Amino acid sequence: MIPSMIKCPICHTMMAMGENGRSLCCTGERKKHCFDLAAGGYVNLISGHAAGGDSREAVRARTAFLEQDHYAPLADEVIRALREYGDIGVGSTVLDAGCGDGYYLNRAAEQLGLTGLGFDLSKFAVDHGAKTARRRGLGERMFYAVASVFELPVADGCADAVINLFAPCVEKEYARVLKQGGLLVVVGAGEKHLYELKQAVYDEVYLNDTRADLPTEMPLVAHLTTEFEVNLERAEDIESLFSMTPYYYRTSARGFARLHALTRLSTRACADIYVYRKPE
Ligand SMILES: C[S@@+](CC[C@H](N)C(=O)[O-])C[C@H]1O[C@@H](n2cnc3c(N)ncnc32)[C@H](O)[C@@H]1O
Repeated sequence: MIPSMIKCPICHTMMAMGENGRSLCCTGERKKHCFDLAAGGYVNLISGHAAGGDSREAVRARTAFLEQDHYAPLADEVIRALREYGDIGVGSTVLDAGCGDGYYLNRAAEQLGLTGLGFDLSKFAVDHGAKTARRRGLGERMFYAVASVFELPVADGCADAVINLFAPCVEKEYARVLKQGGLLVVVGAGEKHLYELKQAVYDEVYLNDTRADLPTEMPLVAHLTTEFEVNLERAEDIESLFSMTPYYYRTSARGFARLHALTRLSTRACADIYVYRKPE
């Protein structure tokens, strides 16, 4: 699905499907900029320089973990917030900024019938999101692209809601793309998120700080918290979960030895869900 609100990342004119049916082209008067759709259905809208974001391995580990629905209670709480505070449903457009593999956006689309726009710097992540959407028959309502959350390739005021889970929060850009009265839902790790996992790996365990990049201008409508048990019975699931955390990149060899010795783990996932509304 190529929504009418996608903008050319180069000349910022609106885009439409090209004549060959396999690329997105802008309506720029002097030069047409075209971006080919990948086989999986996503489009890379980062022009001129290589995209970054999560690696193939990081996306694979995240997907392996999320697809077992260990974080379904969190997804459902976000979906509940969208419905309750934003009246999001059929006909609404929801943009996931830093969507990863689309787990949350695709689930929201299935449950609420919404139209979804998923943007992430990682082509491996959006490829998975787009393929999953197609497989589940959501393809017509979903659009996935490689793009930075600092410069989203969409028109001003096009989204009824923006969701942003564990990815950079860019208040000014999200405010730009939201309709007046639109909802911004930001999710961060709660202070005791995965505490037992950290205890298993480290001698000394600290509580998590609140996200440092929370919006400061948009009015906060609600601060919700959710907590649930995650029970893992396989070493590879424990490793996948650990690799989804920032600790993965700053753990000593001794910590990894302790991680790899684990064969089962019960830990609590604790998330903070902040709901903001762009003023009318
Ligand atoms: C911790 S993952 C969270 C992914 C997803 N929201 C989830 O919760 O499963 C962070 C994601 O942000 C993406 N990311 C990091 N910086 C970004 C940027 N500037 N623009 C778009 N995506 C970015 C990464 O590629 C990665 O997929």
